[in-house]
Amino acid sequence: MRGSRLRQQTGQKARTVAQANKENCVNARRIGILTNGGDSPGLNAGIAAARDRIEQAGDTAVLLRNGYAGLVAAGAGDLQAALVSADSIDWRRMARWGGSVLGSSRTNFSHDTLYRQGLAGVELLALDALVIFGGDGTLTSANRLARDGLRVGAAPKTIDNDVAASDTCIGFATAVHGGADALERLADTAWTHNRTFLVEVMGRRSGYLAAAIAEAGPADAVCVPETDWTLQQLAERLEDKDGQLIIIAEGAWPQDLVEQARGSSGRTSVGGVASVVAAQLGHASVPVVAFGTGHLLRGGAPVATDRILARRLGALAAQAAQDDGGLACVRDGVAQLRDISDAAAGRRFLTDSDTAQLGSLLIGR
Ligand code: F6P
Repeated sequence: MRGSRLRQQTGQKARTVAQANKENCVNARRIGILTNGGDSPGLNAGIAAARDRIEQAGDTAVLLRNGYAGLVAAGAGDLQAALVSADSIDWRRMARWGGSVLGSSRTNFSHDTLYRQGLAGVELLALDALVIFGGDGTLTSANRLARDGLRVGAAPKTIDNDVAASDTCIGFATAVHGGADALERLADTAWTHNRTFLVEVMGRRSGYLAAAIAEAGPADAVCVPETDWTLQQLAERLEDKDGQLIIIAEGAWPQDLVEQARGSSGRTSVGGVASVVAAQLGHASVPVVAFGTGHLLRGGAPVATDRILARRLGALAAQAAQDDGGLACVRDGVAQLRDISDAAAGRRFLTDSDTAQLGSLLIGR
């Protein structure tokens, strides 16, 4: 750990076994690896690459369980809940699997109490640095840790592909592939029975995943959160022909239903839109069947491009954790390291030129 600021914040003075080991082995740094937020295919390839890089340099990889929740558990002294044993992992085969062998959680450090517990965990485990795989919320917390003096190497992962600092994220390609595969399968029934499907896909408030799946096809139309569209526009599309496949992003509410979809926070809800819209269209001359792909697109074996991307970003994030910290990301098609403050750049959404590329697939404007 760099500087005394973190120690002052946690007030931890406990001398742990880990610290004693570290003092006996002067040059080896202890670098934690964690995955936080929703799972995303490719994480295991990223973890393996980060560990490889850390251990090749003679440092020690400390495997943290369930993301930031593991640090919080360590802060509470529960090392069983905090750590994953390297021996329990099949390092040779894991790059082929979805999910994360380290586990994950939705814990984030926007709450001060949890944050302090997480910092205490960093202290107790005597970590010099962290490698963090996460989406927007996780990366914002990673930047907070870095601002407080911890050396952090971070890498973006989310099937939503909505991390502003990176052109693409670990897991996105696999989710697009899975979405296109789901469409292919639904097309058999749609075209045989002339039945129209409204296919909902994840993505939170961003339409990147929905747009890419629609482009991969075979889709007839797509509704995204970034454009205004109405039930009437969709109903008119349905009149065109039978047996259509219409993609709807989970955050894409038609203008007519926005008020109804607003929760107590004042923001529209995310998820469940396809079945609400299908029910509203019940009186249209063409009946539609709502189909939610949900977590299916988050799972499964990562496609080759995600394995390669995860390896590169994982190794770069580990390198950053060993050096001065940084965000491993993709810009203009090149995997590279940027300042860690880029991790707090927030989310990104489809631009006008992105939606223009959808051409006649797009419903609304
Ligand atoms: O951010 C990734 C994501 O898969 C979103 O697309 C989706 O809205 C959300 O996570 C679902 O989260 P959970 O698995 O916690 O329900």
